[in-house]
Amino acid sequence: MDALRVRGTGKPLVGKVRISGAKNAALPILCATLLSDGASRLRNVPRLRDMETTSALLRFLGREVTFDAPEIQVAAGSQVRPEAPYELVKQMRASVLVLGPLVARFGRAKVSLPGGCAIGARPIDQHLKGLEAMGCSIKLERGYVLAEGPGGGGRLRGAEVYFDLPTVTGTENIMMAAALAKGRSTLVNCAREPEIEELGRILNKMGAEVNGAGTDVIHIVGAEPGKLAPFDHAIIPDRIEAGTYMVAAAMVDGGDVVLEGAELGDLEALSQKLRAAGVEITSEAQNIRVRRRGPLRSVNITTAPHPGFPTDMQAQFLALMCLARGESVISETIFENRFMHVPELQRMGASVALRGNTAVVQGVSKLYGASVMATDLRASASLVLAGLASDEETEIRRVYHLDRGYERIEEKLAGLGAHVERVKGAEA
Ligand code: EPU
Repeated sequence: MDALRVRGTGKPLVGKVRISGAKNAALPILCATLLSDGASRLRNVPRLRDMETTSALLRFLGREVTFDAPEIQVAAGSQVRPEAPYELVKQMRASVLVLGPLVARFGRAKVSLPGGCAIGARPIDQHLKGLEAMGCSIKLERGYVLAEGPGGGGRLRGAEVYFDLPTVTGTENIMMAAALAKGRSTLVNCAREPEIEELGRILNKMGAEVNGAGTDVIHIVGAEPGKLAPFDHAIIPDRIEAGTYMVAAAMVDGGDVVLEGAELGDLEALSQKLRAAGVEITSEAQNIRVRRRGPLRSVNITTAPHPGFPTDMQAQFLALMCLARGESVISETIFENRFMHVPELQRMGASVALRGNTAVVQGVSKLYGASVMATDLRASASLVLAGLASDEETEIRRVYHLDRGYERIEEKLAGLGAHVERVKGAEA
């Protein structure tokens, strides 16, 4: 397993970094290619392990996939196997996104339950409830979801679906199912993330009628069978990658970084909190400039569904607050176990007390280098940021988590003056 060695210099990051396409937008869109047969092309795709896993899954399902970053092409193969096995789903929970398209398109699907996850239980009951509302029969057997369209494999019916809570992939799964269902569907209490808006754009391009994606109520009129067309599309920038570099720029006084190809409008909650902490943020066209001049003030955050503060930025912001003056209170409301970075940051000298879903951070004047362990994608990012702010060496192990979501991170950071190197096959 690879490790990352961050040789902290105590110097700020300065320069320009280009933001990649959004992993969490590409994932559902690639699954949406199952709704049609022609050849679809997705551009601005990041070179990430999750994209490889999705390509492997689509191939397993019978598609022909060519992934030559930053492009993926997906075409129909000679046969379809509407089944997502545990081996692939366990590598990436988002594989469950094939469930909606498969059952809508082929009348049946067998998809492994994703199982537990480091950050929380992450059930999929809302996905299943939505499909049931559309006439699907669902059975859970030996760790698999067996879904069948009405009357033993028939076409799904448009329906009113009320989500008990806003779920990102749940909303996406049901949107894709509704795009081929008979008649109109109304989805209520939907997640409102920009990635959902993006999926709405794709389904419209394909020929479904989607209104309201990005708001809490989405109306969809399904297309007739065989009528959804393939698409050619460049995906939106990755707001979480952008947010991570914004925080990276703020870790050390004097930081001055321009993020190229990023969308500040998707990062409102984070920008406001960074500004409250004393960080300067300006934007022009698709460039965001982040500057830190002076000490950081402590700020409280509470994660919430979009447009609230993203849970995917909590770990990185917590790392920043470790170096702010005073006390900040960080509350995590989306996932029940998303503070795995805290004990690792403590090894680096951070002062953080955990009380249930709240972390109370007392700012310290410096962080030390240490050997730390990455536990999930965003926790790993927070450890890299902490390492950058120290003036010692930090080794972050199990960096495969990071490789799921950050394209060429060591190269991008090196471009900003950081010393980060990959250690191949380091001991876990
Ligand atoms: N939930 C349920 N039942 C469901 C679905 C969700 O109770 O059927 C709960 C979850 O347990 C959680 C909350 O609802 O407490 C929100 O979860 P959501 O379903 O929105 O999360 P997700 O769709 O599994 C996506 C992102 C995550 C991101 C979350 C929250 C993708 C592929 N993944 O996950 O991204 O943290 O939304 O914004 O879009 C990451 O990129 O590092 C990552 C984990």
